[in-house]
Amino acid sequence: MDQGRTHILGIETSCDETAAAVIRRNADGSGEIVSNIVLSQLKDHAPYGGVVPEIAARAHVSHLDGLIAQAMKEAGLGFEDLDGVAATAGPGLLGGVIVGLTMAKGIALAHGTPLLAVNHLEGHALTARLLRTVEFPYLLLLISGGHTQFQIVAGVGRYHRLGTTIDDALGEAFDKVAKLLGLGYPGGPQVEARARGGNPQRFDFPRPLKGRKDCNFSFSGLKTAVREVVNDLGTLSDQDVADVCASFEAAVAETMADRLKMAVTLFREAHPRVESPALIVAGGVAANARLKAVFETAAAQHRLNLIVPPARLCTDNAAMIAWAGAERLALGLADDLGVAARARWPLDQTQAPIYGSGKLGAKA
Ligand code: KG4
Ligand code: ZN
Repeated sequence: MDQGRTHILGIETSCDETAAAVIRRNADGSGEIVSNIVLSQLKDHAPYGGVVPEIAARAHVSHLDGLIAQAMKEAGLGFEDLDGVAATAGPGLLGGVIVGLTMAKGIALAHGTPLLAVNHLEGHALTARLLRTVEFPYLLLLISGGHTQFQIVAGVGRYHRLGTTIDDALGEAFDKVAKLLGLGYPGGPQVEARARGGNPQRFDFPRPLKGRKDCNFSFSGLKTAVREVVNDLGTLSDQDVADVCASFEAAVAETMADRLKMAVTLFREAHPRVESPALIVAGGVAANARLKAVFETAAAQHRLNLIVPPARLCTDNAAMIAWAGAERLALGLADDLGVAARARWPLDQTQAPIYGSGKLGAKA
């Protein structure tokens, strides 16, 4: 450590990205990405229409050491220069998590470096602070292929879940709709592209849980409604596909605006003195332009400081894991080498799990 400056190696292997990164945390709490390498296994899994855990774990084993060597080389550092080694310890596909965590333990043991066993969701939750000063508490909306949740981020390791999905994750809903329409995997970007030429009013899909006084989500009924329309249409013209995509996106957008309003109300009840809290949107679905417009409108309406980190840091990466590790190390929260990998690991341990939220084996 050099005058409160730390260098942390991060490792991410919880789903279908193998990733290694080095970040620097400065004494004033600001951060910088020194190297950030992500190897997507998308092509390996695409033929199966989703992530195959066994294939993912094998790919992590094949590529991880090379990616770490590359990340260290690009950073111009040796292992002895590191102040900590951070790896995702869950939640995620257990086989993959074990690969990354075991590698981190090996490095920690060999070089006497502190180990940081990071919750993948905490990586997503804290990413915004790597890029700029963001004060606690803030509101986090995580929308990925495996998770859809609102959290109050009160501090490092301090989370309060306001709402989560009671069935499918939002990214999963996009992927399933894409599959129904034969659009390929991952479906989100394809649905978005097709929706551009479509009529959002043609199909009146449900707005799940709209108006409910909590801020949970549900997407499986919406997906079923899409399936029924697709079945009724029979052979689909390009215009049909575009109209289904646009109508689906419109339903998601309206639902999201409603759930966000509830989340802000609950946040303000919990923290009445925070004037303009940050709203951080993370996860792959944050890339969707239609939804971004919803967040922008909501931010203006509810006096929120909207921050959507760039896509390469919103989707799975190791810089966010290294950063969460750095924030934990700064608080003296290093882990024991005996720490175990966990398939499930909610951020807010006080909340009862809801079936379907962060399914075993789902992407986080
Ligand atoms: O965060 P991410 O890269 O991986 C994890 O799930 O951790 O998110 C992937 C999800 C997929 O379900 C994908 O279809 C969705 O994000 N996605 C999108 C868009 N880009 C990616 N969904 C809607 N619109 C997009 N433009
Ligand atoms: Zn993730």
